[in-house]
Amino acid sequence: VTDPSARHRLYSDLAGWWPLISPPDEYTEEAAFVAALLRSSERPVRTLLELGSGGGHNAVHLKRAVSMTLVDLSADMLHVSRELNPECEHIQADMRTLRLHRTFDAVFVHDAVEYMTTADDLRSVMDTAFAHCEPGGLAIFMPDHTTDIFVPSSGHGGTDGDAGRAARYLEWTWDPDPADSWVETVYVFVLRGADGSVDVVHETHRTGLYPRETWLRLLGEAGFQAAIVTAQTDDETQARDVFVARRPPAR
Ligand SMILES: C[S@@+](CC[C@H](N)C(=O)[O-])C[C@H]1O[C@@H](n2cnc3c(N)ncnc32)[C@H](O)[C@@H]1O
Repeated sequence: VTDPSARHRLYSDLAGWWPLISPPDEYTEEAAFVAALLRSSERPVRTLLELGSGGGHNAVHLKRAVSMTLVDLSADMLHVSRELNPECEHIQADMRTLRLHRTFDAVFVHDAVEYMTTADDLRSVMDTAFAHCEPGGLAIFMPDHTTDIFVPSSGHGGTDGDAGRAARYLEWTWDPDPADSWVETVYVFVLRGADGSVDVVHETHRTGLYPRETWLRLLGEAGFQAAIVTAQTDDETQARDVFVARRPPAR
């Protein structure tokens, strides 16, 4: 698998810091929100495919109720997730092109969908979700931003780990050109090793930004019946649009 995310240090040589930069506890509320959506599916959800599962920080909560298959492009992020979620199936693949030739009761795509910076790429992920979703099943897409409710923002976080390791970060998101389909986030990571040495790393991520109307149109073209649920969780400062897409039952 070619790994374009290797150009993001966060998902390659820094992946071992992911549990300190974005700890699993911070996903509790969002995962509960997704679990509630899954319970609302008319088809009982026993199997769940997650595309772009990263360090598996949603999966660690969701796997209690469902059997999960986790897909990510980055071998380093899959390694982190396998440590946390050894009972889940892990697959290295690109969510735009993955074809497992089997279906799941539901498909979930969290913030990794943000890395789709063109509408064609976004549509490809929807096609992957459709191909792996049982008729009558659900696909849930949870991007960080949609154009309709986007506001530039900055924030910080990070936690302490074992044996003196600790991480802190600053993130700063803005839209250099509202006419195109992407925004930019600058990250500054401050990483303290067990020996007390401190590294400062910064990098910029380009992520997709689309209007609700584009999301709904593309989901319809992919074959889904889709609706928007706007979520506001306590651990997120901004509301986010969640796209709940149903693959129509077979006739
Ligand atoms: C913010 S992290 C996801 C974190 C995840 N929500 C978690 O629970 O830990 C984004 C992930 O998207 C993955 N990614 C980016 N482009 C991808 C693609 N085309 N196919 C699969 N995974 C991709 C990256 O490798 C990275 O692990």
